[in-house]
Amino acid sequence: MSRDSGESRLIIRGGGRLSGKIVVSGAKNSALKLMAASLLAPGVSVLHNVPDIQDVQTMRELLEHLGAVVDFADATMTVDTAAVQSHVAPYELVQRMRASIQIMGPLVARFGRARVAMPGGCNLGPRKIDIHLRGLAGMGGEIRSGHGFVEVKADKLRGIDMFLEYPSVGATENLLMAAVLAEGTTTLENAAREPEIVDLCKFLVSMGADIEGAGTSTVRITGVRELHPAEHTVLGDRIEAGTFLIAGAVTGGDVEVVGISPHVLDLFLFKLRAMGVHVQENTRSIRAVGDPAAFTAVDIATLPYPGFPTDLQAQMMVPLSLASGVSLVTENVFEKRFGFVDELVRLGAEIRVDGNHAVIIGGRTLTGAIVRCPDLRAGAALALAGLAAEGFTELRDVLHVDRGYERFEEKLQMLGAEAERTGAEPLSCASD
Ligand code: EPZ
Repeated sequence: MSRDSGESRLIIRGGGRLSGKIVVSGAKNSALKLMAASLLAPGVSVLHNVPDIQDVQTMRELLEHLGAVVDFADATMTVDTAAVQSHVAPYELVQRMRASIQIMGPLVARFGRARVAMPGGCNLGPRKIDIHLRGLAGMGGEIRSGHGFVEVKADKLRGIDMFLEYPSVGATENLLMAAVLAEGTTTLENAAREPEIVDLCKFLVSMGADIEGAGTSTVRITGVRELHPAEHTVLGDRIEAGTFLIAGAVTGGDVEVVGISPHVLDLFLFKLRAMGVHVQENTRSIRAVGDPAAFTAVDIATLPYPGFPTDLQAQMMVPLSLASGVSLVTENVFEKRFGFVDELVRLGAEIRVDGNHAVIIGGRTLTGAIVRCPDLRAGAALALAGLAAEGFTELRDVLHVDRGYERFEEKLQMLGAEAERTGAEPLSCASD
């Protein structure tokens, strides 16, 4: 995984309390799929509350590469897919963002063909697509791979009954988008249940799709002859919300995140409370008040939704390093999501990793240092550690954070953080 020149740096002065309100942006992990889903219908779809982040920019480049016309201003994006004529997702775009693979389902469903560069591995481990391909093959897709590409062809996809061997988010989304225009009915058992999947299903239904069971483990899709463009507002980003709630807690602060329904973070909030953070849930906002001196150790095991979200695992290691006692974090979703622990140890954490388990010895005092962001969520976690540390922390390769957090340091500054950005090279490395 290549890195940028390390010139993109965020300098954080730790020790200050964060307090105040921030409005969360639209969810990265919904917006990218909604953009892909717009390929299913000719014409202009409109998406509101789209976050202005690197991955959205990359997906925009991909849609334009396929022939779509995209306009994006003030969080509203229009995607005109009338002129889409290509079905190829090139290596340089897929390598930059693994979610490029999500155009496969829509392209095969509408055009009968998709040719996508294989997503490479990344910092989180091998990112297989076997479940995606097994489903598309079962629906009648002819799969061929070679020269680093995978190609799927089908005159007309047919509905299937499929049991996903793992509730993969991406596979559920790709197969949903393939099934909406297939002949007959598709039943996906053991489907992923993430809130972003529900958001995608809402958009697809507004396009004319026939979907039952969105957000449950069994989703039934009855294929329709065609879909029409639609308008949709992206739901709030639960991972961004959780990240900023932890920022407040680890600085002994009081932070409210607005534009999020607490129910999408149920287990995360349960764990925050178990650790000793005071959490107030409102209809469209969540408030957290923390005092690290009062934190106690809790164990975390990441699981598919509604389990503890893997995308908040790294961030949680910061309060657990401050809490009194020993915590056990088990990463069950990705094979290599502890890659950043060595950077956290440089800031004073004491963490022992063995396979997919990390033992965190708490009661630590963090001290500022130079650290490098290996990926998006780890980068955010290191920023949280810098906020809690004594002295200055310099985050390098911080453009990773820009892939998934809109105006990251600006929002931190709004909460009172001393955080300044220096330099910025275009990110040239692989995806989540
Ligand atoms: C989505 O990735 C998110 N990305 C990830 O967020 C998130 O961590 C993940 O879901 C789990 O919630 C986007 O939505 C763009 P998976 P995805 O398919 O779809 C294995 C972030 O930081 N698997 O549920 O790739 C796979 O290897 C990113 O925002 C197969 O074995 O997640 C992995 O171990 C990081 N075969 C596990 O399932 C397959 O065909 C989870 O993958 C597909 C997946």
